[in-house]
Amino acid sequence: MAILVAGGAGYIGSHMVKDLVENGQEVVVADNLSTGHRDAINPKAKFYEGDIRDRKFLDKIFDNEDIEAVVHFAAFSIVPESMSKPLKYFDNNTGGMITLLEAMRDHNIKYIVFSSTAATYGVPEHMPIKETDPQNPINPYGLSKLMMEKMMRWADKAYGIKFVALRYFNVAGAAPDGTIGEDHGPETHLVPIILQVAQGKRDELSIFGDDYNTPDGTNVRDYVHVMDLADAHILAIKYLEAGNESNAFNLGSSTGFSNKQMLEAARKVTGEPIPAKIAPRRPGDPDSLVAASDKARKILGWNPKYDDVHDIIATAWKWHSTHPKGYEDRD
Ligand code: UFG
Repeated sequence: MAILVAGGAGYIGSHMVKDLVENGQEVVVADNLSTGHRDAINPKAKFYEGDIRDRKFLDKIFDNEDIEAVVHFAAFSIVPESMSKPLKYFDNNTGGMITLLEAMRDHNIKYIVFSSTAATYGVPEHMPIKETDPQNPINPYGLSKLMMEKMMRWADKAYGIKFVALRYFNVAGAAPDGTIGEDHGPETHLVPIILQVAQGKRDELSIFGDDYNTPDGTNVRDYVHVMDLADAHILAIKYLEAGNESNAFNLGSSTGFSNKQMLEAARKVTGEPIPAKIAPRRPGDPDSLVAASDKARKILGWNPKYDDVHDIIATAWKWHSTHPKGYEDRD
């Protein structure tokens, strides 16, 4: 039986597909290529180009393929964009989930592993954040994903569709073999932007705010390697296949790094000076987001391999330095 990876041409989805294929799993990818890249899809996966909001498209996949579980990455994920275009997020993310769950219900597909986010917590009351902490998002992106989590809860009660929601903290890095990596257009994430400065593609890094309530005044985030994240999804599929109840897990490293610390780490890894300046705050950024990830370790048996942010940055640097134009320079 196959796993359907919705959004398998995107940054995290493509690493998931690679991980599944390398574990001998049959994989079907659905992606509308709105932000993903055809060249990021592992050649051993079967690819359907289309939109998960299109019910006929989903029916075609579920009719043609023997799908056991869905891993759902097909969503927009840029916090600042969601502040200026909230309805785009509710349409694609929240709306897409309705169509996907309806199609799963009608085709009797019982398992879904979902990319949720630390952004569902909003401004945390204490750190590290536990799965049982209140979820009060402060941006439309976080709310769109919280609504998706809640929909899955009701779909479980009504139709028996079991889910695992994986709440990611800050995902970074690339496949260590350098074949796939992060390529957003436009890029908004800290690690790739820092590395673009190191490459000379940007003049300097703007650090958004240094007056936050953190030790050095810049935002603190919890960085997790994209391949460790992919491993957690494979464990989540196994957890559901073993007949366990629906559940939610944080995925982070349990260690926070400030934006200034990330810059210093990247200077060390790349050996480049990476000029930077302090710029105004960016709307929608909480002071700190650090995960308590012991639940995933204990229940899923998750054992992340990358516990040093320098190693995470080094894999990203390998991708960036060998693909200076991202996927554009691939055949
Ligand atoms: N930042 C800068 N300069 C930049 C880009 C980012 O200072 O040029 C800062 C941001 O202000 C923030 C930090 O770097 O303080 C991280 O920003 P990212 O845009 O890389 O990531 P976010 O924390 O905004 O969001 C990411 C994912 C979300 C997820 C969230 C959870 O994109 O999907 O992590 O922690 F919800």
